[in-house]
Formats: sequence, structure tokens, C-alpha cells
Amino acid sequence: MRLFYALWPDVRVQEHLARAAAALPLAGAARRVPRDNFHVTLAFIGEVAPSQLPELQRIGGAQRAPECAIVFDGYEYWPYSQVVAAVVRESPAALIELSTALQRALSRSGAPPLRAHVTLARKVAQAPVQQALSPIPWNVRSFSLVSSDTRGAHSVYTVVDTWPLLYEQPPP
Ligand code: 2AM
Repeated sequence: MRLFYALWPDVRVQEHLARAAAALPLAGAARRVPRDNFHVTLAFIGEVAPSQLPELQRIGGAQRAPECAIVFDGYEYWPYSQVVAAVVRESPAALIELSTALQRALSRSGAPPLRAHVTLARKVAQAPVQQALSPIPWNVRSFSLVSSDTRGAHSVYTVVDTWPLLYEQPPP
């Protein structure tokens, strides 16, 4: 099975991201990611044997990261992967640390630090006309272990397990 840790948006954030994807002028083979597939990858695991699942669930459950607020506030086009993403220009330190801790637990200490983003469109051969993204805020309260089936035209994702982030009382 193919697995990754990710943030999964709620319906409201999905709706805003879907509007952001719809606003992209795309041509040729480019295709929008279906809204049910929107996610922020925290740590990519890849293909593993099902027998490794309990250990990956243990790693997820062992994290102690606080809830945080993020804002998708820009589009980026990445020519190498031919995707357009909605990006979080300034990720909270707590989220970067969660991603780093997961990578470390997977023995991927060399992985680059998190650049929080949601891929909105794939197979984009040319940079779309530059445009602004109306900021999309999201209070992140949990993260998930997700499996992906990449055999079809669009990947099919299944949330395997979800863990809450820790509620922190705001300062008085
Ligand atoms: P993305 O978040 O930029 O779209 C599940 O496959 C997710 O893991 C995808 O959304 C993808 O990136 C990310 N991913 C896929 N293959 C990867 C790889 N080899 N290394 C890191 N991330 C990968």
C-alpha cells in the first residue's frame, strides 16, 4: 500500500480551494484535482507492506503538536512536477516541526522542510497567467494517515487514521 501523512481540509476549506482551482485558466492536458482529493502532504511514506501499518499508526499517535492556523495565500506553478498549487507562504513553526518529526520517525532526516501546499491542478505544461489568490484561512485541528490508489486517472485517497492536534488556550 502507498501511504502518506497529511492534513485533510474540511468541507468549507475544500469549497474555497475548489473555487481557487476553478479560477485557474488551464489548457491542453491540464486537469484540476477533484475537491475530495485536496490535501497538504506532511510526510510522504510511499509503498509499504501492510504489516508496517501498525508502526505507522503508532508514529502518528505519538505526535504531540498544537493546533494551528494556516492561510493559503498564493498560487505557485512548479514546472518540474507540472502542477499548480495553493501555497501557505508562512507556515507556523509548529506545523513545520510536526512534518519534520514525522520525517525523522520515518528515518528521512534529509527530507526538505515542509512547504505547505495543496495541489490544485496537474499536468500543467505552461505557467498559467499569474493571478492573486483570495486568502483561504484554515484552523488545522488534526492530521491523518492516508492511503492512495494511483491506478486510475485520478488518485483515490482513503483516510486510514486521524489524530487530533492539541488545543492550546489562547493567551489572556
Ligand atoms: P503533493 O502533495 O505535492 O501533491 C500523495 O501521493 C501525495 O504525496 C501527493 O499529493 C504528492 O505531492 C506527495 N508525493 C507523491 N510522491 C512523492 C514523493 N516521491 N516524494 C514526496 N512527496 C510525494
